[in-house]
Amino acid sequence: MCGIVGYIGPRDATPIILNGLRRLEYRGYDSAGIAVFQDNAIEVRRDAGKLQNLADLVSRQPLSGAPGIGHTRWATHGAPSARNAHPHLGSTGRVVVVHNGIVENFLELRDELSAEGVIFNSDTDTETIVHLVEHHMAAALDLTEAARRTFQQIRGAHGIVLMSADEPDKIVCARIGNAGGVVLGLGDGENFIASDIPAIIDHSRRVIFLESHQMAVVTRDGIRVETLDGKLIQPQIHPVSWDPVAAEKGEFRHFMQKEIHEQVRALTDTLAGRVDFEKGKIRLPELNLTPEIARRIDKIYITACGTAAYAGMVGKTLIERIARIPVEVVIGSEFRYSDPIIDKNTVVMAISQSGETADTLAAMEEGRRKGAIVWSIVNAIGSQAMRIAAGSISMQTGPEIGVASTKAFTAPLVDQYMLAILLGELRGTLDETTRRQLVKDLRLIPDLVGRTLAREAAVEKVAHALKDIRDCLYLGRGINMPIAYEGALKLKEISYVHAEGYPAGEMKHGPIALIDKDMPVICLAPKDPWHEKMISQIQQAKARGGTVIAVATDGDELVSGMADHVLWIPESPWMLSPVVTVIPLQLLAYHIAAIRGLDVDQPRNLAKSVTVE
Ligand code: AGP
Repeated sequence: MCGIVGYIGPRDATPIILNGLRRLEYRGYDSAGIAVFQDNAIEVRRDAGKLQNLADLVSRQPLSGAPGIGHTRWATHGAPSARNAHPHLGSTGRVVVVHNGIVENFLELRDELSAEGVIFNSDTDTETIVHLVEHHMAAALDLTEAARRTFQQIRGAHGIVLMSADEPDKIVCARIGNAGGVVLGLGDGENFIASDIPAIIDHSRRVIFLESHQMAVVTRDGIRVETLDGKLIQPQIHPVSWDPVAAEKGEFRHFMQKEIHEQVRALTDTLAGRVDFEKGKIRLPELNLTPEIARRIDKIYITACGTAAYAGMVGKTLIERIARIPVEVVIGSEFRYSDPIIDKNTVVMAISQSGETADTLAAMEEGRRKGAIVWSIVNAIGSQAMRIAAGSISMQTGPEIGVASTKAFTAPLVDQYMLAILLGELRGTLDETTRRQLVKDLRLIPDLVGRTLAREAAVEKVAHALKDIRDCLYLGRGINMPIAYEGALKLKEISYVHAEGYPAGEMKHGPIALIDKDMPVICLAPKDPWHEKMISQIQQAKARGGTVIAVATDGDELVSGMADHVLWIPESPWMLSPVVTVIPLQLLAYHIAAIRGLDVDQPRNLAKSVTVE
């Protein structure tokens, strides 16, 4: 979950690392630190809290030189404090490490090292790594071999970067398991290391993704990739098409707001090259889906976490309705413990923005182990979820920085809609007229989303009316039921308001007891096949004194006659309606949090990529 940056080359590493960390702060933000090679020694600055605290410390106590490494932390072992912030120096002060992951056998290793007289200066598991490296260097190994021995000794999943004042011509790094990526950026006479592309996108557009159990020795002029047991690897170099501007906030106050507005562009790119409007056909070549595979699939598990799982719930309705394949959505953290019934005709499809979520990757591994066809829908280029899948659909959203996922929610809705059409065509469950109509409807999506976004000011007004709420219920039915879950999640994660998403029809079985004048009820009531049912739900909430905020289709006087506030959306084909109904809920959560003055992009206790179980 933490963010890592490294630089080796002729320039001063400090600004490069601080800027890179700024781009990675979404991964963890409880403390940060930097180490650079300066005057033949390693200088370290660390501080608790946001990256700005570190930047302020560096201005008071400047440091400059290269190579350098930096880190922004999401605490696992040891409280968030300057003492536990990375980088961690060894006892000699000549070796330093930054780390993402958990050293599972750290207690055992710490006892062994303590018995040798090593003094620990932090409460972290990470510190064992640097002491082990020093231990091996003391036995006459160079940094690379000492690091290799250490990587073989530690258990768990890791991204690790090390440097030594005795060998300042190199940085050594490794990826072990799924603790988040290690990306190597190639430059001219300089090279870069990061846990994610945005950190180095200003400097390098050619990257290497380390695979699990690979290490790299990075110098100014080259990168040598090896397996942990020393086999040389010829790594693939990937071009990066992301625009560096995409990783900046631009004129927006927060990344979340910018990313909400980017959905028109993201969805246009989602369709580009994949939809043949003339023939009414869908092309998803990266999925490697043949007619033979499509016909033999008899079950699909969609596995994902949080927002991505809610996207999967919409996908279930789409795939079942259009392709007539039974779909079960299982959240990533439960999948491998549920002993899923899988054979070669089962698809396990993961959805993930980061492609690094540990629970989602573990679910994919479980699918692979049991012989399933494993697919993924992923945003982060080159991520593990993309690489371990037999077929993948790449979200075309560009980097998502705000911790609250927005554009990486709507893109997979459209991806799954397209997948359902393709499966339906290949399996013969779709007649040509319906297929053509479904494909034609896709053309409407960017405009519908754009028109909904244009109503932001009206949503902001409602946000002002709701700014002091303490609880909130979100109700939806059918294809828009997961949008109730997603709306509630958005509100709770950035506004810290207690919110529940509920299938509207379940209210009468208990939760209706909660409704009174202090409980706003947000009802998703677009003109879809569940519209009438939602009307009676709104009546029930009103009858109990609840304040109703309805998401309704333009001109729906029935709803506007009953609701206290209406968030209007343009009329949309029902199977695509969740792409539109979620927009006012994203904006509502955003504005409530912004009005409350909260840290929208970096809400407390959260990290963007959850790479621990
Ligand atoms: C979304 O707003 C959340 N912050 C979170 O639920 C997220 O969707 C989840 O952690 C899954 O992440 P992924 O898409 O990167 O796998």
